[in-house]
Amino acid sequence: MHAYPTASVPRGLRWSVATAAFQIEGSRAADGRGRSIWDDVVDTPGVIKDAAIADPSADSYRRASDDVALLRGLGVDRYRFGISWVRVQPGGTGPGNAAGLDYYSRLVDALLEVGVTPFPTLYHWDLPSDLEEAGGWLARDTASRFADYAALVADRLGDRVHDWYTINEPAMTTLQGYGIGSLAPLKQLLFGALPTVHHQLLAHALVAQALHADGGHRVGIVNNHTPVRPLRDTAEDAMAAVAYDVLHNRVFADPLLSGAYPDLEAFGLPPMPVQDGDLELISAPQDFYGVNFYNPTTVTAAEGDSPLPFDIVPTPDAPCTGFGPEWAIVPEALTELLVGMRDRYGEKLPPVIISENGASFPEPADAARVEDGDRIAYLAGHISAVADAVAAGVDVEEYTVWSLLDNFEWLDGYTQRFGLVHVDFATGERTPKASYDWYRALVSESRA
Ligand code: NOJ
Repeated sequence: MHAYPTASVPRGLRWSVATAAFQIEGSRAADGRGRSIWDDVVDTPGVIKDAAIADPSADSYRRASDDVALLRGLGVDRYRFGISWVRVQPGGTGPGNAAGLDYYSRLVDALLEVGVTPFPTLYHWDLPSDLEEAGGWLARDTASRFADYAALVADRLGDRVHDWYTINEPAMTTLQGYGIGSLAPLKQLLFGALPTVHHQLLAHALVAQALHADGGHRVGIVNNHTPVRPLRDTAEDAMAAVAYDVLHNRVFADPLLSGAYPDLEAFGLPPMPVQDGDLELISAPQDFYGVNFYNPTTVTAAEGDSPLPFDIVPTPDAPCTGFGPEWAIVPEALTELLVGMRDRYGEKLPPVIISENGASFPEPADAARVEDGDRIAYLAGHISAVADAVAAGVDVEEYTVWSLLDNFEWLDGYTQRFGLVHVDFATGERTPKASYDWYRALVSESRA
């Protein structure tokens, strides 16, 4: 028997676990599914570690009932899962694909049957390839296309689904997808990527407006935030930290929560392509605010002829996850982040949902019971950090573990395992890890 750490748990917090469509579903050619920018990436030789192709991955398109049984066993309140745009609307425009919508409809029914609230994410990085060809998130029109797609989903599921995440981590799409090319669509436009910020926020806002007009829906975005720390106590590093904070955090949060973009020109950056009325729409009251948190970020002033005003460096004196030094384990940074957001945005900050938090560690590929004490320690530390933020007066509604299952970790393929449940990608076999049992006990004790 292992003695695993306990977490201090805020009373009344809801519990959840998360996944995303492209990362778990597999069956990429099934039932009329179209192509997304991630299909294009996995089909590009040499890009993904170990040439993983995300199919079958965790095979959840065919094993959804296994996933629902695991959720029921955990006893979580909610399940955050992704809806694949190209299953619903294969080319990104036009009528819905009945088979794709049926899959999600069956999943929703199965969740409700076991008492788990379905909480889907409408967009988790898998833009239809046809829309990317038409400009992707650089094009304002993509925001309207997203609203059309969301309407198809809401028409089909909206009688049973009342909680919606719109866009997952727009910062990663902007910075890594279009800025430096380490996520789809692998573009390296540097600051030329900035219009994708505005178009994603606009897409979120259009969908929130439509769902609110329908009535009975709660809608929020999922932003990944990170407290930014200067490496050295110098004016140059302080400046680098402010610049990174603006690009990673504030450019995504300020317009939603204060109605204006930060002063981009002060950093020599181009202005956002804002049109009349956009900021009013984007800053309309949010029902909740999704925060994904993994680690703080340490930066130093860039040296040499770097096109960026900062360099990201390992956070000193911190243990790290399977991703190595840039994924430092610093639970108190989550308290700092939440309290800092409350102080900056005040009343405009709605209840916060921790929509992802978790860690990968090296674990076996073959089916195995994993005694993942390092993951348990990570989760316990971060749940306690949430409790500290709640004690400091931050309104936190929910905590979500990334992830229910080991899955396809983007360019890292299957090499980074985040699951509470081990998945043997050769067979699809699911084996709960020690962290699954630990989380189940925590959830149940929190209700006692
Ligand atoms: C955030 C993303 O939303 C998710 O897709 C990813 O797997 C996790 N972070 C871990 O990197």
